[in-house]
Order: sequence, then structure tokens, then C-alpha cells
Amino acid sequence: MARLVKLDATGPIRIDPQEKPVFICACGLTKNFPFCDGAHKKCKEEEPGAVYRYDPETGEPVRAE
Ligand code: FES
Repeated sequence: MARLVKLDATGPIRIDPQEKPVFICACGLTKNFPFCDGAHKKCKEEEPGAVYRYDPETGEPVRAE
């Protein structure tokens, strides 16, 4: 089964208070779900309103629409 999920967050969700901050991925690009691994930095160049697909092998963005 495959699933296409549309997400528009460009950074993680921070959960406080913890002994240390915990960042939960909200962009969908992490390789360490549910935790942010910094992969959201690839979202910085996205244009508002555009839809992007990310190559699962390279992790590079491919503009879909
Ligand atoms: S928010 Fe997804 S990798 Fe950071």
C-alpha cells in the first residue's frame, strides 16, 4: 500500500517541557520518524502554493506542480 500525504510544515514541532527539547517531524522528510533529523532544511526553497515530491533515494526535491 502506498500513501501520498500533503504536508506544508517546513520545520519540526517542539515539545516542552522535557529534560531536553524534543522535536517531532512535521515536514514528513525525516528518516528517523517521528523525530526531526534536520531533513526539513530541504523545504526552505519551496515556493508557497507549489507541491513538491521528494526523491526517496536522494532526498532531493522534485517540484510536482
Ligand atoms: S521537521 Fe521534518 S525533519 Fe525536521
